[in-house]
Amino acid sequence: MKRSIIKSTGRYVPDRHVTNHELTERMDTSNEWIVQRTGIEARYWVKEGEDVGASDLGCEASKIALERAGWSPDDLDLIVFATMTPDVNVPGSGAFLQDKLGAKGVPALDIRQQCTGFLHGLEICDAYIRSEKAEKILLVGAEFQSRYLEVTTANRDTAVIFADGAGAACIEAKETDSNIGIIASILHADGKHSQALRVGLPARKSGHPISQTVIDNQEHFPFMDGKTVFKLAVTRLPKVTEELLNKAGMQLEEIDMFLPHQANLRINEAFRDRMQIPQEKMYNNIQRYGNTTAATIPIAFDEMIEQNLVKSGDTIMFIGLGAGLTWGGVIYKMV
Ligand code: COA
Repeated sequence: MKRSIIKSTGRYVPDRHVTNHELTERMDTSNEWIVQRTGIEARYWVKEGEDVGASDLGCEASKIALERAGWSPDDLDLIVFATMTPDVNVPGSGAFLQDKLGAKGVPALDIRQQCTGFLHGLEICDAYIRSEKAEKILLVGAEFQSRYLEVTTANRDTAVIFADGAGAACIEAKETDSNIGIIASILHADGKHSQALRVGLPARKSGHPISQTVIDNQEHFPFMDGKTVFKLAVTRLPKVTEELLNKAGMQLEEIDMFLPHQANLRINEAFRDRMQIPQEKMYNNIQRYGNTTAATIPIAFDEMIEQNLVKSGDTIMFIGLGAGLTWGGVIYKMV
């Protein structure tokens, strides 16, 4: 049977390091407020005016992952690019990345699943591998969100949270009878909550997609109903954890490490508390990176590998929730 193995990972963040203190000079906020409500101490943003897109950030992370896997871009059967901040609306960032890597002729699929982009990507890669449509896949989560943020008091709730960065993983097919690699995945969506976290461009109503009204109403900046998102997260993450464990036929204690999407440290702590997960079994790095949406999980996983926090034989649960509403998780056993 074919199983999906994460052969290597890579991460990249732009070099502009933005502390909470810097933000206090640009809007009415405080380090204490941001740390207490979100856990975030600093994040990375692309330098203002720099001519890059999500594909450039994704390309840097991909080059590292490809080198570690010992793959050349020509070896790839597929590129899956998860982002909610594509370089442009059309075409997808996967096509830009394919060209920048020189992966001639390799199909490139963009997915727009926001904070669960990487989780959706893992399930898609697994489906391609199990159905023997692909053997070597590059999965990327990359975001250039700072250019969509308005760094003013009016939009301070989103401005302090979202950040730029990229993570990549080389996913390989392995023929084995062992229960390794991607063991189980579950994804959900509930469009009833689509208004809780959104960017209103292109405009829904008739007329030009970028009208003066859209700009006056600030529809081009992210809108977040933070309280609703928070409540949905702390109820749905525990539920999908149970679903995943049932699907995999496992007990919570058998999971060696939990890697939740880095939306908000308070959400992850509430989830950990509710599930009674020991602190040392959960990895968080939102303190240093902010919320990089589709990139949080691959960036954090790359760090976990680097710090030897996971080893061969360990079982990891990736889990997350975000705009859509979408949520889900993946159980992965290290080779
Ligand atoms: N700095 C200082 N004050 C801020 C602020 C900031 N960056 N952002 C909002 N505030 C203010 C509000 O304007 C409000 O002021 P008011 O009482 O004078 O009206 C006050 O803080 C409380 O706002 P509220 O929205 O009720 O705060 P909250 O306790 O719900 O915290 C979030 C706001 C965004 C931190 C919280 O709702 C949250 O974490 N939600 C989940 C968001 C998330 O995870 N998003 C990513 C999903 S993938």
